[in-house]
Amino acid sequence: MKAHIRTYGCQMNERDSEAVGALLANAGFEIVTDETVADVVIVNTCSVRAKAEDKALGKLHNLAASKHAHPARIIGVIGCMARRTGAELFEKVKGLDFVIGPRRLSVLPAVIESIRNGGGAVLDIIGKADEPANLSGHINTGIASFVTVVEGCSRGCTYCVVPEARGPETSRPATDIIEEIRTLVSAGVKEVTLLGQSVTSYGRKAGIGLEHRQSPLGLEEQFPRLLEGVATVPGLRRIRFASSHPSGVTVELARAMSSLPAICNHIHLPLQSGSDRILGLMRRGYSADEYREAVSRLRTAVPHLAITTDIIVGFPTETEADFDATRRLMEEIQFDNAYVFKYSPRPRTTAARWVDDVPPETKALRNQLLLEDLDRVGLSINQRLVGRDVEVLVEGESLRNRTRWSGRTSSGKIVIVEPVDGMSGPGMITVRIERAMPQTLYGTITGREKERA
Ligand code: 5AD
Ligand code: SF4
Repeated sequence: MKAHIRTYGCQMNERDSEAVGALLANAGFEIVTDETVADVVIVNTCSVRAKAEDKALGKLHNLAASKHAHPARIIGVIGCMARRTGAELFEKVKGLDFVIGPRRLSVLPAVIESIRNGGGAVLDIIGKADEPANLSGHINTGIASFVTVVEGCSRGCTYCVVPEARGPETSRPATDIIEEIRTLVSAGVKEVTLLGQSVTSYGRKAGIGLEHRQSPLGLEEQFPRLLEGVATVPGLRRIRFASSHPSGVTVELARAMSSLPAICNHIHLPLQSGSDRILGLMRRGYSADEYREAVSRLRTAVPHLAITTDIIVGFPTETEADFDATRRLMEEIQFDNAYVFKYSPRPRTTAARWVDDVPPETKALRNQLLLEDLDRVGLSINQRLVGRDVEVLVEGESLRNRTRWSGRTSSGKIVIVEPVDGMSGPGMITVRIERAMPQTLYGTITGREKERA
């Protein structure tokens, strides 16, 4: 049996797709990149904005139509839309075989088996208890891997569909996480990104198994302690984490980041808006000043920290003055980069009860203005790197030009280099930066690290 997984959405979905791939490979499936030859096609969906759902639905309709040519083909939905939309998906997509929620992925091999045996369509989105799926399998581990540490979210931002789509926040046991990372490192992985909708909330709801151990840095909070534990894995060179919530940017987090050399020089810290009134309506739980304080705590501990963010423009009632507050705060903070989203009302969220009153043209204009600002600031930050030698973890060939290699600095910036003789694959290199673009750096390899035996 050949299975193909198509992934939409965020890093969390990418990670889930990889875990599902490992689960199916263990059950005897061959995971294929060519959809046309697949006996089972799984679509991992995103619900965060209406456009993301439309894309996945379009794909599912095409797949359902392909059943004429492949009558035995099994088509299924996993991910955020599965849990959010549930049984309705069978009505929207005729010929759909299964809908499995993000916490229920471990049932997939058995579900596919039962459908193959004529058992009919399957809906399984919540299960008895909202336990974490706690999947630890990986396939095609390159040099950088994702590791889930927190599943779901309980924050309840008024615009966000994630709590409904992925369930309440639960943390995986630290011992499972560290074991998973040890296995990855022994397979050649040098960088891990710890994932959670709000990764800094790790372990706040329940103990995670590190409580009785000594913390060498004298830390008491769970997420900084997890970082400290992960940093003990021998051979792991880089640790990233995403996404952080400003409330989790504590003195201890800043201390862990400045004391543990493996932690990368970057944080993704969603701001969403620079207007206190809008932040209040979003129920983000911080003011613009508190966000500023979080940033200054981090920058005091880690002076050249790269900071990226998420922004929503056109939230209900956002005025010119609210937008200007966002723009000014962004200018003040000097973000390395940001994802800017036009507000999209999501069914059953609190904000969906309010009128989506910012016209589409205004959303588009605000989006455009921020992107222009970001390019200008990003370029000026990147230009400071020209002429410097930086450490780059090469991840693979550049997607734009396969004769070149692409990697990232510790600060998360993409670096493109021409390969040199003897460079056979991914690894840590030193690059002299020669040219800067707003989102990308170009340079020449000046050193290649010898593999330690
Ligand atoms: N509309 C627009 N953007 C949204 N995001 C989350 N929900 C919405 C929505 N309803 C954005 C937030 C979040 C990112 C993953 O997606 O900025 O941080
Ligand atoms: Fe999309 Fe959010 Fe789900 Fe990720 S968690 S796939 S961004 S809805």
